[in-house]
Amino acid sequence: VEGVVMSAGLGFFAGKRVVVTGDTGFIGTWLSLWLAELGAEVMGLALPAKSHNVLFQSLAAANLINHVDCDICDLDATCRVIAAARPEIVFHLAAQALVRLSYAEPQLTFATNVLGSVNVLEAVRVCEGVRSLVYITSDKCYLNKEWLWAYRENDELGGRDPYSASKACAELAFRAYSDSFLCKRGGLGAASARAGNVIGGGDRSADRIIPDTIAALEAGKPIVLRNPTSTRPWQHALDPLCGYLMLAIALARDPEAFSGAWNFGPDQRAIRTVEDVARLAVAKWGGGEIVHGPDANAPHEATLLSLSSDKASRLLGWQARWDFVRAVSATIDWYRAVYDGMAPIDVSRRQIREYMTELPAL
Ligand SMILES: NC(=O)c1ccc[n+]([C@@H]2O[C@H](COP(=O)([O-])OP(=O)(O)OC[C@H]3O[C@@H](n4cnc5c(N)ncnc54)[C@H](O)[C@@H]3O)[C@@H](O)[C@H]2O)c1
Repeated sequence: VEGVVMSAGLGFFAGKRVVVTGDTGFIGTWLSLWLAELGAEVMGLALPAKSHNVLFQSLAAANLINHVDCDICDLDATCRVIAAARPEIVFHLAAQALVRLSYAEPQLTFATNVLGSVNVLEAVRVCEGVRSLVYITSDKCYLNKEWLWAYRENDELGGRDPYSASKACAELAFRAYSDSFLCKRGGLGAASARAGNVIGGGDRSADRIIPDTIAALEAGKPIVLRNPTSTRPWQHALDPLCGYLMLAIALARDPEAFSGAWNFGPDQRAIRTVEDVARLAVAKWGGGEIVHGPDANAPHEATLLSLSSDKASRLLGWQARWDFVRAVSATIDWYRAVYDGMAPIDVSRRQIREYMTELPAL
């Protein structure tokens, strides 16, 4: 793997001090593990881990990351924790990340995703030595016109539900900090990054199709689909994460050229229905039943949303590598292996190595 890592340029991270906010969450844990595999010194900050964060627990038990409990809504604590880590690279992923929960907890969603993100920006502003900031928002930051065309980085921002609006606001705050402070400081590159519907092992969040499907399969119960025909741009976490890593490297090398907004969406062929995901999951798991259970009180969720990743492809040489079948298969394989007794960290490590061996030399 070492040779592959070096040839793909990811050897850049060896020995680097990296801060990951949201390291206990689904995507943050994968990123932290990948960085640790690359030899980075990872410091994570997030709210205390929950018992369902099994991949994080597995990483913590292996002493692979340095984690600090820290609420990003607390400015002083956030500045203190980030300053103490003396990071060269910061990945910001901490967020209230669930659309449904944003209807129940709108204030918490805006406080975390907007003010919490501003606190992270402030902590980076006052922290000398940061060379790259990758600030993760979402594909939902775009004003969704419910049309067929894919959104580009310079399309209008907006959001009808509290989660989407909070991510659009987080983008505006990023832009202001970036233009007014971060990009004026020589040697610091700052970028916001938007991905699609991310799947992968270790996610146990409520009201997401993969965790719900796995919980049903493990319990031997039917998988109840609320919106079987809804389509989403599905992608395995390793695809956008590879983009974030490549972006961090590019920002450190040429801040002026790479600062700004970036999409890392899947190929158009990965825009498939919820039912397609459930059917493939059942086939990979080796059994299971699917039933339709429409929810008349379901809050509005935008459909028809896709990202154009032409910019990342042309300027960074990034592309989505795992297609729909591969992304869902790797995800279900992960849960099946853990269900059968493998340690979460070992399954993830194996998948990261598999992914890296397929990366071309850059
Ligand atoms: N999962 C997806 O499909 C998807 C798609 C697009 C964008 N995103 C974005 O990617 C990021 C990670 O998403 P995820 O799916 O891993 O979410 P997750 O819910 O699994 O993890 C969220 C993380 O943020 C932390 N956090 C929440 N509130 C915090 C606070 N006040 N202070 C400190 N930490 C706090 C949690 O502790 C956790 O570590 C989020 O910004 C999310 O909006 C996710």
